[in-house]
Amino acid sequence: MSHTKREPLKFAYWVPNVSGGLIISNIEQRTSWTIDYNRKLAQIAEENGFDYALSQIRFTAGYGAEFQHESVSFSHALLEATKKLKVIAAILPGPWNPALAAKQIATINHLTNGRVAVNVVSGWFRGEFAAIGEHWLDHDERYRRSEEFIRALRGIWTEDNFTFRGDFYRFNNYSLKPKPLDPQPEIFQGGSSRAARDMAARVSDWYFTNGNTPDQIAKQVNDIRTKAKENNHSVRIGVNAFAIVRETEEEAKSVLAEIIEKANPEAVNAFGHEVKNAGKASPEGEGNWAKSTFEDLVQYNDGFRSNLIGTPRQVAERIIDLKRAGADLILLGFLHFQEEVEYFGKHVIPLVRELEAADAVQPVAAE
Ligand SMILES: Cc1cc2nc3c(=O)[nH]c(=O)nc-3n(C[C@H](O)[C@H](O)[C@H](O)COP(=O)(O)O)c2cc1C
Repeated sequence: MSHTKREPLKFAYWVPNVSGGLIISNIEQRTSWTIDYNRKLAQIAEENGFDYALSQIRFTAGYGAEFQHESVSFSHALLEATKKLKVIAAILPGPWNPALAAKQIATINHLTNGRVAVNVVSGWFRGEFAAIGEHWLDHDERYRRSEEFIRALRGIWTEDNFTFRGDFYRFNNYSLKPKPLDPQPEIFQGGSSRAARDMAARVSDWYFTNGNTPDQIAKQVNDIRTKAKENNHSVRIGVNAFAIVRETEEEAKSVLAEIIEKANPEAVNAFGHEVKNAGKASPEGEGNWAKSTFEDLVQYNDGFRSNLIGTPRQVAERIIDLKRAGADLILLGFLHFQEEVEYFGKHVIPLVRELEAADAVQPVAAE
């Protein structure tokens, strides 16, 4: 893909379909995991410049997150409540097999005029796998399975008499009818490890990474795009961030300080132990949480590291820096979702659009 002429950045928000919000802290959060709250949130988001919503898949509690709605059915409900928002349904290979996922998503694709996408996650929560009787694979094996899963999804969606001989999945002359409408549902994935990047460079449309500085994002983007080019593949990049946008920088920073101060240390440390352990078998040690500090771990995906914490102008400028580093999409979490999605859409996105127009941003990443 040529990035000399960059498209406008896309914006996504994390669907709070899991209780407790996006941080492990006892600070007050005016966010709810219920369907009524989420329907309204999705409507606010699409009216205020957001392109995508990303749902989460969790089967059990841990470190908070006591209640969790299932991602595909919840995503469908949000699509039914909106007109143009795209909703990305998280899918975990293991509990889902590709035959069911392909069929389910093809149907939702028809029901919603093509607005559903998928995020194929590879799993990090060993206790969850044990709780539901799922075999726990080593880190790189989880990605080998996810890659076969994605290849199977694409094959089923685009070919008749699809035949596939993998180590994890088998298909024999399978013809799905109806197939999804064109364009095909987009396939997202997450991660930071070597295995995650290599999978993105081979098969995914989009790669989500944990929050990070523009320098670190640029390194990942260069690495992935160079490899993707060798594979004749193109992949877009989504960067996670926890946004705290307030009228003054002091206010925004004091909210961050309060989140950290009210963090639940036991839960944060237990989460840190779990995710670092999940990444152990990633041989190069560059997994999503390999370098996360206590403070980083208070947000599930290192969202403070992207530093979208300040006034609308400061945040818009830092978003442009992430775009220069190669980001195509910014994925956002908030403390009080409904209010803050609206505020972000009204006060930050228009500034980003102005800066994009003035600057015709060029990425530092490899073409
Ligand atoms: C944006 C984003 C969303 C994710 N959503 C989920 C999810 O809903 N459920 C889940 O079990 N894992 C989720 N993950 C975890 C990833 O699938 C993967 O297991 C994790 O990023 C490990 O990365 P690593 O290979 O760098 O260690 C998500 C990761 C990212 C970056």
